[in-house]
Amino acid sequence: MKFKTLLCLVISCLCFVTVNAQEMSEEDIKSRIKPVGSVNIAGAQAASAAAAGPRSGADVYTKSCVACHSSGVLGAPKLQDAADWAPRLEQGFDTVLQNAINGIKAMPPKGTCGDCSDDEIKAAIEHMIEGI
Ligand code: HEC
Repeated sequence: MKFKTLLCLVISCLCFVTVNAQEMSEEDIKSRIKPVGSVNIAGAQAASAAAAGPRSGADVYTKSCVACHSSGVLGAPKLQDAADWAPRLEQGFDTVLQNAINGIKAMPPKGTCGDCSDDEIKAAIEHMIEGI
C-alpha cells in the first residue's frame, strides 16, 4: 500500500515535469540554451549607436560634458561663456575639436563619451560655444 502511494506520487511528479517540458515554447528553450554572457565588441556598439542616428550636441553635452563644463571643474571652459572659450577658439576650431577627441590635460578623451562619434563631439562643442 505504501509502495503504491509512493509509486503514484513519483508517476504524477513525472507527468507534471513532462507536461511542463512540453509547455516550453521554442523561445523559452532558446533562451535557456543560449550561451552565457555575450561579447561586447566596441565597434559593434558604435555601429548600433550610429544606426539609431547621431545624438544632438545638446544631448551629448547633457549626458557627458555637463559634469565639468557647466561649473568649470578643473578649469574646463564653461557652457556658452565667451571669456572662457575665446582664447581656446583662437587655436582654430579643428584644433579644439582634436583636443576634445584626444583629450587635453584634465580633459579626458572624448570627455568620457567613449561611444560618441567625432561628429557627436563636434556637435557638443558647437552647442557649448553657441552664441559666442
Ligand atoms: C572630467 C571633466 C570633463 C568632462 C566630462 C569633459 N571635459 Fe572638456 N575639458 C575639461 C577640462 C578640465 C578642460 C580644460 C583643459 C585644459 O586645461 O586645457 C576641457 C576642455 C575642453 C575643450 C577645449 C579644448 C581646447 O583645445 O582648449 C573642449 C572643446 C572640450 N573640453 C569638450 C568637451 C566635450 C565635447 C565633452 C563631452 C563630450 C567634455 N569636454 C567633457 C574637462 C572635462
